[in-house]
Amino acid sequence: MSVLLTGGAGYIGSHTAVEMINAGKEIVIVDNLYNSEAKVIDLIEQITGVRPKFYKEDCCDKKALEKIFSENEIDTVIHFAGYKAVGESVEKPAEYYRNNIDSALCVIEVMKEFGCKSIVFSSSATVYGSDATVPYKEDMPTGGCTNPYGWTKYMIEQILRDQAKADKELSVVLLRYFNPVGAHESGLIGENPKGIPNNLMPYIAQVAAGIRDHLNVFGNDYDTPDGTGVRDFIHVVDLAKGHVLAVDYAKNHKGCEAINLGTGNGYSVLQLMRAFEDVNGIKIPYEFTPRRAGDLGSCYADASKAKELLNWKAGLGINEMCRDSWGYQKNKK
Ligand code: NAD
Ligand code: UFG
Repeated sequence: MSVLLTGGAGYIGSHTAVEMINAGKEIVIVDNLYNSEAKVIDLIEQITGVRPKFYKEDCCDKKALEKIFSENEIDTVIHFAGYKAVGESVEKPAEYYRNNIDSALCVIEVMKEFGCKSIVFSSSATVYGSDATVPYKEDMPTGGCTNPYGWTKYMIEQILRDQAKADKELSVVLLRYFNPVGAHESGLIGENPKGIPNNLMPYIAQVAAGIRDHLNVFGNDYDTPDGTGVRDFIHVVDLAKGHVLAVDYAKNHKGCEAINLGTGNGYSVLQLMRAFEDVNGIKIPYEFTPRRAGDLGSCYADASKAKELLNWKAGLGINEMCRDSWGYQKNKK
């Protein structure tokens, strides 16, 4: 039996592939390489000594998915595939709804056709919307998303919840990620944004590498200890390990569960930047600029449900996150 990782060549998917293989699981990857490169499959092999089976296909192509399911015994899907840039989703909403919703629907339909009964979905803390109060807990209302990307996550959660109501044999785990950062300690795989990074950690890493001359800190007038935004940064390897446990959980349970994957700790933009400077011995020049539209002041998880249901807890701290982000960035130079 194999676990299918859609979008498995991407940032979180590739780290999950490594942890799945390390845990002795058989995996198959499907990715259209829209936001990743085929060489990631070689790197997964280099890290683990096992080459995962790979299909370069689009998850919106049902025929292609049917072929994958007919050639492999897939008992669980981890659905990572999707577009993820918040700002771009505001510019190109139709593309985001089409790709994210269509790929999820195709995966769900083909799973049904082949009797595959468990799915782990990459959701996001963004589904809690702008009115939620920290720490975010899974039973809080969702919705009120501030951008089309967030709405796609909200809608796919709803689709999967409905699907689990209709099919009592189905097991759905909605993993709501907080802010994944860091990279595999080998420095071989990591986050490789195209163009100017939108996210904080890759931007800091590019300033450290001399690719950008300074960090713009978006707002210093939030209601937070130092006025800058607070986030629940989580090491991508911890996140990946959470998926391994979620797959086991999904196989033994029915119904639909939403689970936060965060550390439960909030760090500010300035705290993260200073930790990066201290751990790596590199100065990061910065300037305060106005708030970025749509940003929240504070966002962090109540991480107790993941501990309770998955026996998962983040093990790596902010120093490892900064060390490994720089380790990957350095390797790319
Ligand atoms: P990523 O872009 O690195 O990985 C996504 C992968 O999916 C890419 O390799 C891309 O080529 C592939 N893909 C996109 N559309 C596809 C399609 N139609 N068919 C096949 N492959 C397709 O992103 P990531 O950071 O690894 O995120 C993985 C998932 O986690 C996404 O669904 C994302 O929305 C979600 N998520 C990410 C974050 C984050 O901060 N990185 C936070 C919350 C949720
Ligand atoms: N920030 C800066 N300068 C930058 C980039 C970011 O100051 O150049 C600040 C932001 O204002 C925010 C913090 O750093 O306060 C984190 O910003 P990111 O862009 O790294 O992350 P977000 O919290 O905005 O968004 C991330 C993911 C989304 C996901 C959301 C909630 O990118 O996909 O977390 O999980 F929806």
